[in-house]
Amino acid sequence: MGEIMQHAKRIALRILGLGLAASILSTACKKSETGESNAGKQAKSAYTIGMSQCNLGEPWRVEMNAQIKAAADKHPNLKVIFKDAQNDTLKQRAHVEEFVSAGVDLLIISPKEAQPLTEPVAKAVAAGIPVIVLDRRVLGSNFTCFIGANNTKIGHAAGDWIVKKLGGKGKVVELKGLMTSIPGQDRDRGFREAIAGTGIEVVFEADMKWLEPDARKEMESALSRFNKIDCVYAHNDPGAHGAYLAARAAGREKEMLFVGIDALPQEGVAYVQQGILDATFQYPTGGAEAIDTALKILQGQSVPKEITLGSRLFDKECVGQGGRELP
Ligand code: FRU
Repeated sequence: MGEIMQHAKRIALRILGLGLAASILSTACKKSETGESNAGKQAKSAYTIGMSQCNLGEPWRVEMNAQIKAAADKHPNLKVIFKDAQNDTLKQRAHVEEFVSAGVDLLIISPKEAQPLTEPVAKAVAAGIPVIVLDRRVLGSNFTCFIGANNTKIGHAAGDWIVKKLGGKGKVVELKGLMTSIPGQDRDRGFREAIAGTGIEVVFEADMKWLEPDARKEMESALSRFNKIDCVYAHNDPGAHGAYLAARAAGREKEMLFVGIDALPQEGVAYVQQGILDATFQYPTGGAEAIDTALKILQGQSVPKEITLGSRLFDKECVGQGGRELP
């Protein structure tokens, strides 16, 4: 009888032990699935950050990488590895997977397109790697922090500016950024909201995929179809510049206004100073903020889910004073 009791006790203890182990394991798994924070991780003396850039074709992205590098160089314990996907979504997906299998401490990504990069980002998070999404969003909210300016607001401000300059009436060509990327969608939405109910009419619209040569080609079609155009609204400065070149080649650049977005000092702002563009709206790259935020995450501090950057208008009236902040 005593022996049977002893045996039952041993079995009960074993079951209890197994249950405890299972529950510890399951909490550990849940932590790494959501990639909650770095708080529980051991502090390290040096960190490796993977930076997945969608392309380096535009000066704006070269500037983003330069800002990231300059900010990281101030911290000897940070090493950033840059990968350039050369505007190829599949390549960028592979880059994210490579960073995950290399076990980087944190990932920064500026994705080309929202939908196809959503899953690789989620997988990085599931592997316990904090992810900062910069400038172009992925879908949903499975990342650590998003940093970028408010593109709907910028599009709205561009629309307001155009309505005012054209006295509430006129024919506009809209050259859109890649419409599978969120900034393109938001810059269109904000603009449409601003011109709704006014006499501004979008007579021609095309997706120039953020690319100057595509914008120039689309503008050639617009010029051949319409003998009067009052304004070109392009979703970035390379697009506005491509449209300007097409209009100038047709001898029609004085007929219309050219409005872009980005306002890099050496690009859009210089174009306004030279009288090539009539207005540009700043779209900060967020490179320095990404490194600041990365450091906080790596040190186990909590960071906001979204960091919204400001923007400034540069036109003939305010370019001399360093532009004007959007309210
Ligand atoms: C560069 C760029 C910028 C634009 C941003 C939007 O690739 O097209 O000109 O503002 O991306 O994500």
